[in-house]
Amino acid sequence: TEQKPVSETAASKVTLPDAQTVISVKHWTDRLFSFRVARPKSLRFRSGEFVMIGLLGDNGKPLLRAYSIASPAWDEELEFYSIKVPDGPLTSKLQHIQPGDDIILRPKPVGTLVHDALLPGKTLWFLATGTGIAPFASLMREPETYEKYDRVVMMHTCREQAELEYGRQLVEGLKDDPLIGELVEGKLLYYPTTTREPSERMGRITDNLASGKVFEDLGLPKMNQETDRAMVCGSLAFNKDVMAVLESYGLREGANSEPREYVVEKAFVGDGI
Ligand code: FAD
Ligand code: A2P
Repeated sequence: TEQKPVSETAASKVTLPDAQTVISVKHWTDRLFSFRVARPKSLRFRSGEFVMIGLLGDNGKPLLRAYSIASPAWDEELEFYSIKVPDGPLTSKLQHIQPGDDIILRPKPVGTLVHDALLPGKTLWFLATGTGIAPFASLMREPETYEKYDRVVMMHTCREQAELEYGRQLVEGLKDDPLIGELVEGKLLYYPTTTREPSERMGRITDNLASGKVFEDLGLPKMNQETDRAMVCGSLAFNKDVMAVLESYGLREGANSEPREYVVEKAFVGDGI
């Protein structure tokens, strides 16, 4: 491309204690990419948590944003899955990173999408739109997920099929994963849908849950407070609407300090673009 790589810009070789080297980058669409960076030895996190990452801004100060860690806690590298906001202060630059570049990573993981925040259950639902799949990319590769639940359902919805591809390839690769392939076998049900581009399965997560279509399609009983647990990550509007559906099935919002039947996190702040 004509764009200069980050290594030739002001953001080159960050001379900060929190610098981490980019190992690989993959572009999925003109709006989505994923990348892997070296994991600081001292970084401990729970699968599903997020950290602050970024680059040096033009003013020489760190420009940081919240990012879910998309890799599981046992992985030696850290993976991130990112939007490219055309005029976004961080992602207009971050989308040009290349292997060997440094990014800033503040090693203070936090977040609500963690197993500790849910009461024990039988079926765990991961409900995500867009880049909201990132924390579940971590949790789908986390052994604890399959140790704690009999069944895991990954519902991911985007406007178009190409936007589902990162999640699709991740799910397809799980069965061949030497570490968790066997654990996942027969337990993970993947339910991707599009809302604008015609595809095999369509519809908003809210509609497919409220109408009961997803239960019929997957041959599952209706969601209920006794057996079902959920983790939600999408836009503010999506989260709000999904919460209402979950509450209608008797699930209540929990937190680290008070585990219940579901937990929610924003995939980003703002109305979307
Ligand atoms: P910003 O000024 O931060 O955003 C500009 C506008 O772009 C926002 O107002 C919003 O309308 C839109 N926008 C921002 N992020 C997204 C997005 N992810 N999807 C759709 N629209 C968006 N982003 C990721 O790409 N991957 C993640 O794993 C991720 N995890 C997050 C976890 C948390 C807890 C929060 C609060 C945010 C997370 N974000 C994630 C969003 C991220 O922090 C930044 O907003 C994003 O990287 C864009 O940064 P920016 O400086 O380019 O633009
Ligand atoms: P839709 O195409 O019907 O708006 P976006 O690209 O706008 O961030 O949306 C990502 C996905 O989330 C789209 O498939 C979109 O469906 C869906 N979505 C957006 N808002 C909601 C909501 N309030 N409830 C359920 N799904 C939503």
